[in-house]
Amino acid sequence: MSDNAHAEERPHVPVLPDEVISGLAVKPGGTYIDSTFGRGGHFSQIAKRLTDGRILGIDRDREAIEYAKRHFPGGNTRVVHGRFSQIAELAAENGISCADGILLDAGVSSPQFDDSSRGFTFRTSGTLDMRMDTADSLTAKEIVNTYSKERLVAIFRDYGEERFAVRIADAIIRRRERAELETTEELSELIKAAYPAKFRRDKHPAKKVFMAIRYEVNSEVQELTKFLETAPGLLKKGGRLAVISFNSIEDRLVKTSYSRLADGCVCPKNRPCVCGFVQKYRTVGKVITAGRDELLQNPRSAPAKLRILERIAD
Ligand SMILES: C[S@@+](CC[C@H](N)C(=O)[O-])C[C@H]1O[C@@H](n2cnc3c(N)ncnc32)[C@H](O)[C@@H]1O
Repeated sequence: MSDNAHAEERPHVPVLPDEVISGLAVKPGGTYIDSTFGRGGHFSQIAKRLTDGRILGIDRDREAIEYAKRHFPGGNTRVVHGRFSQIAELAAENGISCADGILLDAGVSSPQFDDSSRGFTFRTSGTLDMRMDTADSLTAKEIVNTYSKERLVAIFRDYGEERFAVRIADAIIRRRERAELETTEELSELIKAAYPAKFRRDKHPAKKVFMAIRYEVNSEVQELTKFLETAPGLLKKGGRLAVISFNSIEDRLVKTSYSRLADGCVCPKNRPCVCGFVQKYRTVGKVITAGRDELLQNPRSAPAKLRILERIAD
C-alpha cells in the first residue's frame, strides 16, 4: 500500500466532538450542514443522532469525497464536492433552504497533512503543492518560484505572522536565481538557514511560512470570510453555527463576524439606539477549548477554538 493509500483510509480524530454536538444542540429531525467533511469525524457524530433529519457534507478535497462515497453511501447523508464559500449554492442544489445547524472545522485534515505527496508538511520531503483541491491551478511551487519579494513578504506577514518575513523572502529569491525550489524539504531547510539561530529553538522555523503559503494557495482567508458572511443567513430561527479555528487569524475573523452580528449597534452604550441595528443573532457562551483528557488523547486539539452563534429572529 502506498503512503497515499494509507493516509486516505486513516480516520481524522475530530476535535471537541462532544462540545460540537452540544454546541449545535443536534435534534433528531434537524437539517445539518458540515462544511468541512474531512474524514467524516464530526459528520458521523451528527449523522448517528438523526432519525428523520438529514446532513449534507461539503469538502473541496476530492479524496475526501471518494472517502465519503465508500463510508457514507446515502440515506439521510449526502456529501458533495465544493468550497464552503459557496455554501448557499451547494445547500440550494441539494434541496436545503435553511438549516438547524452548520459546522465548519477549519484547516487541513490529518490524512491531507500526513500524505507527504500533498506537500502540506515541512516534516517530510514532498512536492511543493498544498492544494486542497488538486484541480486548482495555483501551487506552493508556483508561489515560491514566481511571486515577487514584496508579495512573499506580505503573505508571510499577513497569513503567517512571521517576524522574519523579509529575511526568508530574500533567501528564497537568492536561491531561485540558481535553481527552482522543488520540494518541501528544500524550502524547509532554506527557511531554517535564514532564521537567526537564537529563534530556532521553540517551534520549527518553517511552520508559519508553510501555513502562510497554504493560505495563499487555497485562498483560506477569503473562503472563511465569505462563509462567515453567508452561513448565518442560512440558519433557521433557533439554528446554530459552530466554527472551530486553529490560529489567531481564523479566530479573529470568527470573533469579529459573530460580534458584528450579535452586537452590531454602533450607538453609544448609554443612549437609545438610532443606528437601526436589529439583533437577529446571539453568541452562545464563550470560546470553547479542549479539556485535559482530549489534550492528552489528541494533541492536535491544543490550538482549537470553538465559537457558537445562534439565530434568534427571522
Ligand atoms: C480539519 S478538516 C475537517 C475534519 C472533519 N471535521 C472530521 O472530523 O473528519 C478540514 C477539511 O476541510 C476541507 N476544506 C478546507 N477548506 C475548505 C473550503 N474552503 N471548502 C470546502 N472544504 C474545505 C479540507 O479539505 C479538509 O478536508
